[in-house]
Amino acid sequence: MPRLTRADFERLDADDPLAPFRDRFTLPAGVIYLDGNSLGALPKSVPDRVHAMLTKEWGEHLIGGWLKDGWMVKPLELGDRLATLVGAGPGEVAVVDTTSVNLFKMLSAALAMRPDRRVILSNAENFPTDLYMAQGLIAQLGGRHALRIVAEHEIAGAIDKDTAVVMLTETNFKTGAVFDMAEISAAAHAAGALTLWDLAHSAGAFPVDLNGCNADFAVGCSYKYLNAGPGGPAWLFVAERHQKAAHQPLTGWLGHASPFDFALEYQPANGIRRHVCSSPGVIGLVAFEAALDVMLDADMAELRRKSVALCDLFINLVEQECGDAGARLISPRDAGLTAPWRRGSQVSFAHPDGYGIVQALIARGVVGDFRDPDVMRFGFAPLYQRYTDVWDAVAAMRAVLDAGEHRAEQYRVRAAVT
Ligand SMILES: Cc1ncc(COP(=O)(O)O)c(C=O)c1O
Repeated sequence: MPRLTRADFERLDADDPLAPFRDRFTLPAGVIYLDGNSLGALPKSVPDRVHAMLTKEWGEHLIGGWLKDGWMVKPLELGDRLATLVGAGPGEVAVVDTTSVNLFKMLSAALAMRPDRRVILSNAENFPTDLYMAQGLIAQLGGRHALRIVAEHEIAGAIDKDTAVVMLTETNFKTGAVFDMAEISAAAHAAGALTLWDLAHSAGAFPVDLNGCNADFAVGCSYKYLNAGPGGPAWLFVAERHQKAAHQPLTGWLGHASPFDFALEYQPANGIRRHVCSSPGVIGLVAFEAALDVMLDADMAELRRKSVALCDLFINLVEQECGDAGARLISPRDAGLTAPWRRGSQVSFAHPDGYGIVQALIARGVVGDFRDPDVMRFGFAPLYQRYTDVWDAVAAMRAVLDAGEHRAEQYRVRAAVT
């Protein structure tokens, strides 16, 4: 491969069809933000939309906003719009609660649909909250079930007739490696099991096709690649074919068939609405709505092409410029330009001084993050990343390494959030 120069990256920016999207985000001057896989950047339309909700809707319409401004139906309305991004149909997605809470709800529903089976199958590399929520549910159900944890590459072979549900995070939060959703769903179904997918690092990062892959249940967050802001509302998916049979245990009044009858007996609503529990947090929902509008304006195939190009260039450039520093690529080298995807929209390198390198980069305005024990994560959000950001980020890494900034005393102790 010929040696890359900054001029190559400038040319790519000049020809980038997604370049105009950057203007729709607020990004601090002098910052190269490579952490959209943890918390997406702020779309400029969000503060205006939230302000309008507060002042016009709440301020002027008061309680009338539940009908007049559609607050009550927002979890499902927004769900239908999000559905188009994740390969789901109308009435299959609701924007509610948090990812962890939705995991509990969907896992409960799946276990109840497979009463003769006892095993939740997952992988050791899964995000811990998924495993913790499964453990909590198992205790709640009296310990009759078991959480079986195997290595990522052993999942397909570990599905058997005792497996009730295969619960996986599609994109590995540390390495960015992506499971083949279609293949695993087919293997699960062949054994009579169901699938539950956590799409926290997938939705908005690359094209997701829940129905095309025959997924049963899914959950995801809105605050990473979907840019809805810290703690933004999460979402859940129940495939249409399961909606009669799927029940969740958090039987709050807004999942009732007729909440305003105030009946004493719980009667689940038909369809996806039974997975709503409580009054929706409207401020968070409108922030998500405004952020989603930006994402829905983008062509996902184009977004994927740029994401792969940014990540590939970053890998090549780190190896070209910092190859002597001992950073080891732990993300798949081959991203997959067509499904099945192999790598999400992040690149991770392991390095014994990873924490110090990430902190020293942040001090230079290049924001990535660190995951125990030695993982440096760099997320690429094609709507606001420039190709020249890749060049400048790697130049900053080289400067950090040359000056030994990562060995500074203040990086010896890790902060509470890494
Ligand atoms: C894969 C995955 N699932 C779940 C969560 C946490 O979800 P929440 O805090 O919204 O419950 C995260 C957070 O980073 C995550 O990466």
